[in-house]
Amino acid sequence: MKTFRDFYNNEVTFSYEDHPFSKNPKHVWIICRYNDQWLLTRHKERGLEFPGGKVEKGENAQEAAIREIKEETGGIVKHISYVGQYYVDGKSDYVIKNVYFATIENLVEQNHYFETEGPVLLNEIPSDVRKNKEYSFIMKDSVLDSSLKWIQNHF
Ligand code: GTP
Repeated sequence: MKTFRDFYNNEVTFSYEDHPFSKNPKHVWIICRYNDQWLLTRHKERGLEFPGGKVEKGENAQEAAIREIKEETGGIVKHISYVGQYYVDGKSDYVIKNVYFATIENLVEQNHYFETEGPVLLNEIPSDVRKNKEYSFIMKDSVLDSSLKWIQNHF
């Protein structure tokens, strides 16, 4: 378990353990790989980020992850693995989010991409991501580093 501050100075605790904060988290975030590239989306307000969102009624977190990828990028999941879970102490509210790693088998063009502008493929995540204004705040803390490290060790 690892605790750090995020872009907004909120305290975040990340863990690779099996659902340490909640068995039924309400949020998901998915690091996506399509062929040899990272698959992100451009959120209309926050900027570039890996897809994610809220778990809806009647679905579990992994089902939400698969749905969010499709809605925000058109990506169809080939394989998905649980990476870890994090807790954000958002002062007035808290958020518990599952992180997944997904490989994508194909991209199907969608009529609309909900709060995003659709898929963005990148060869690399830039080393200045934390300072880069194009990128969303959710890409700007150690959750991303820890998740990428896990992927490097497992795939
Ligand atoms: P709505 O319910 O859709 O209005 O969401 P919200 O704008 O209230 O935000 P949300 O419930 O998603 O998040 C509440 C707090 O957690 C805010 O302080 C966010 O900044 C923070 N937060 C949400 N997701 C993340 C994340 O992935 N990483 C970090 N570091 N903070 C997050």
